[in-house]
Parts: sequence; C-alpha cells; structure tokens
Amino acid sequence: MPNRQAIRFLLNSKTVTLSKVAATDMLLDHLRLEQRLRGTKEGCAEGDCGACTVLVGRLGANGLEYEPVNACIRPLASCDGCHVVTIEYLRGHDGALHPVQQAMVDHHGSQCGFCTPGFVMALYALWMRSPHPSEDYLDRALQGNLCRCTGYAPIIRAGLAMGGYGTTDPLMDERATVAQTLRDWQDGARVDVAKDGSRAILPANTDDLARVLAQHPDARIIAGATDVGLWVTKFLRDLPLAVFIGHLDDLRRVDETCDALHLGALVSYAQAHAPLCQHFPHMARYWDRIAGWQVRAMGTLGGNIANGSPIGDTPPPFIALGARLVLRHGDARRDMPLEDFFLDYGKQDLRAGEFVETVILPKPAPNTLHAAYKISKRRDEDISAVAAGFALTVENGTITGARVAFGGMAATPKRAAHAEAALTGQPFSMDSFQRAADALPQDFTPLTDMRASAEYRMLAAQNLFTRFWLDANGTPATLEDAI
Ligand code: FAD
Ligand code: FES
Ligand code: FES
Repeated sequence: MPNRQAIRFLLNSKTVTLSKVAATDMLLDHLRLEQRLRGTKEGCAEGDCGACTVLVGRLGANGLEYEPVNACIRPLASCDGCHVVTIEYLRGHDGALHPVQQAMVDHHGSQCGFCTPGFVMALYALWMRSPHPSEDYLDRALQGNLCRCTGYAPIIRAGLAMGGYGTTDPLMDERATVAQTLRDWQDGARVDVAKDGSRAILPANTDDLARVLAQHPDARIIAGATDVGLWVTKFLRDLPLAVFIGHLDDLRRVDETCDALHLGALVSYAQAHAPLCQHFPHMARYWDRIAGWQVRAMGTLGGNIANGSPIGDTPPPFIALGARLVLRHGDARRDMPLEDFFLDYGKQDLRAGEFVETVILPKPAPNTLHAAYKISKRRDEDISAVAAGFALTVENGTITGARVAFGGMAATPKRAAHAEAALTGQPFSMDSFQRAADALPQDFTPLTDMRASAEYRMLAAQNLFTRFWLDANGTPATLEDAI
C-alpha cells in the first residue's frame, strides 16, 4: 500500500502541501498564523460562536459537497484531500462583493464586524443550497453563529434577501476544476505525518484502519473532532498518536434493509437528519436542537456514542428504539444492544484497538409510539440537562412493551427499568404514565451541576411522561420548544 508523508489540500485557489503536521494542529491556526488569512476569526476556540466558520469541500458519494465547519476545532490533518474555502475567496475577480456580503451590507448585518466573516460563510453555505431560504431554514443554518451587536434581525433580513443579489459566484464556476483536482489526488495511500512528537495517521480505507488500530491500540481515533478538538484547544491535551477517520467513505454509508437502518459510524448529525426523520418523524425537532449547523456537519454518530458522555443526545432515543452497535477489531466483529455499551461514567465496552463501525436502528413497528425530548437552558447550541427517548408498543389499548431511556440522569445514558415496568401491561392512560413518573426516583439519583439541579432534573424527567402522553394523544404540549 502506498504511504504518503504529507497532507495536501486546496486552500481557496492554492495547493497546500505540508509534511510537518501535528495531530493537534488546528486549521484556524494554520489559516491565521501560517497563511496570514486573517479574515477568519477566533472567538471561542471551542466550536460555539461560529466566528471561525469556513467551508470544507470534499468528494463523497454525491460528488463535491461543501459544508460549513468550525476551523478552530477542525484538525489540519483532516483537511487532506479537501477544498478549504475562506472568506477571502468570496471576493469576485473584479473585487466586487459576493451577493451574500452585499446583502449583509445593505441590511446593516454588521456592526463591530467580528462575527461577520463567520456569518457570511454560514450564509454562503446556505446560499449554495438554497439562495431563497425560508425563515425557519435560515434560523437553523445560523444556530451555530453568535453576534453580540446586531440583535440578529438585520442578519436574518440579509439572509432572507441574499438570493435577490445573484446566484453565481467564483466557487460555482470553478467547481468542476476543483472536483477534478481532488479526484486526481486520490491515490489510495495511507497518510502518515508528524510534528513535535505528535503523529497523525489517515488510513487508506476501513480495512487499513483496522490494521492500524490493531498495530497501535493506544492511538486516539478522531472522527469529526467536535469532542477531541476541545480537548486540544481548551484542555491543552497532547495527542502523541491520532488516527483520523473522517475521510473513510465506507463508514459514512446509510443502508436501509426492510427492517432496519444501518448507519455507519461516520454518519454526521447533518447526514443522519433525513433518514432518521423519514422513519422517526418525531426526531426532527430533537435533531435540530443538537449543536449548530457547523457541529452537525462535523460531529458523527459514532463519536457521540464512543465518547460515552451521559449527556450525549444520540443514546437516549436510540436506546429507546432498540439500537444495536457493531464494533470491529481487525476482521472480527461483535454487536451488542447500545445500552450495554455504557458501563460506567467514562467507561465504555470498547476494547483497545476496537472501533465503532455501525449503528443498527430497527425500523419502528406500526403499533409503536415514540418520541424524543431535550431539555437545555438555551434552545440552540446547548448541551442537554436531560434528554429522553420513549418507545411504547400499544395493542388494543394496552401497553405491551415500553422502552424509556434518559441522558443526564445518571453516570451513563440508561433505561428507566422501574418506569418501564410501571407502564408494561397497563392501560394506555394518563394514570399509567403518572405511575411511571412516580417510579422514576427508583431508577435515577441525578446530580446537581451547572446545567441543572438534581431536583430540576428529576421533576423535568417526570414531567416528560405527561408530555409524551399529551403528544401521543394528539394534544401536543404547548411549549413545543420547551427549554
Ligand atoms: P470525536 O471528537 O472525533 O471523538 C469523540 C470520541 O469518540 C473520542 O474519544 C474518539 O476517540 C471516539 N471515537 C470517534 N469515532 C469513533 C469510532 N468510530 N470508534 C471508536 N471511537 C470513536 N453533543 C450532543 O450530544 N448534543 C449537542 O447538542 C452537542 N452540542 C455541541 C456543541 C458544540 C459547540 C460542540 C463543540 C460539541 C457539541 N456536542 C454535542 C458534542 C459533539 O458534537 C458530539 O459528541 C459528536 O457527536 C462527537 O462526534 P465526533 O465525530 O466529533 O467525535
Ligand atoms: Fe468560536 Fe471557532 S472560534 S466556533
Ligand atoms: Fe459585533 Fe456581531 S457585529 S459581534
């Protein structure tokens, strides 16, 4: 197998080849400090504010696709084979502003200007998909961008008007050439680069990943880096050896069988949205409340699960829906119910050299009712205080099966065994849900932390049984976006 000791990517119109790259090097530092492209700003360095938004284009199953990403937590090594687009690229060859920029100017979308390049890049990513977005779509596209000055209304007005300023730009004209360049670069090589005692390996394919991990079982896997990136930028952790997997397309597949969805570990939140919502329509609101667009484009299902956080948003609904996890070590695979993966706080059933390969989500039976709820301090871009997934089978007015799982209530995402028992075999009535809520303190002893007090968590979780009952009866709780 060929081995390449350098990464290469297109930065706007320029080819960048780097042989000295640490696993901890972030794209934003490279742009600002090495390339002197200072239009991209650093606000928070933790993926929260969107000031550092750039577009990253990569060749995937659907051709060349661009996504907005947070450059502050995007490892430089993971840009191999990609097209990185910064705000500087938007200016036309004649120096004219891009339609998105002109809309921002005309609608007074910028005051101090610090957030502006990030907003423009997020709007640009939206404009490429939908130059005339609905207000709701625009809202969701800008969840990951913060502004201290404008109060947002002028930015929203600019976003709603941007399509009227034109629909062509340099990137669109040059897209075919960019795609051809990236295609020409696909050499099927394993990439291996290092700097200052920090090494980054990009396996050639998933079989190669299995080999690399078998050889280096202590290596840190990095998928979307939306968790690991913060270990570097906020906790200043070293990464002596990291294996980057974000480019492995066969782990990014969504396959559908007659009875299940098979979601590759690298399926991002953004990519999972359509198939999930098709089969589990209730998931749409829940899914839109995970992070902002940039993090949803980068963060993966496998990373969210493997990270093992008690407040990750994927596990509660997936456990309730009966998800199974496929783990791979070398050529050997094992699978388990998702809930069995979480052993204790920070301890998952993941052996050295093993990786999450697939999440299998059974399609719902016609007589199941399901729902997912997230309670957090802010509606957008916030981590759950409590998250819940419900899946109930109801036959002839009787609850014949109940799976209810919570996040934020224990050291791991966990099923509510006593509450489930209180529901099973009972009439599908408000009284049954009340008894399940009453049983919840036998299942959980939540903690108080900065997100919520123990009392709040318990009360909110108990109230979700009422909410589920109301929603299931076609009387949606009035606070649809309750936070
Ligand atoms: P990485 O950061 O790449 O990896 C995370 C961990 O998983 C690491 O330990 C890594 O080694 C391991 N890992 C990754 N892939 C695999 C694999 N295939 N096999 C084995 N191990 C693997 N999370 C939420 O749940 N809800 C939110 O609302 C939310 N909001 C966020 C907002 C911001 C601003 C940020 C920065 C993060 C947020 N997160 C949120 C956390 C994060 O986005 C998720 O946990 C994400 O799914 C992690 O996936 P990743 O691919 O980025 O993982
Ligand atoms: Fe705030 Fe990157 S600097 S998201
Ligand atoms: Fe000042 Fe947005 S214009 S932070």
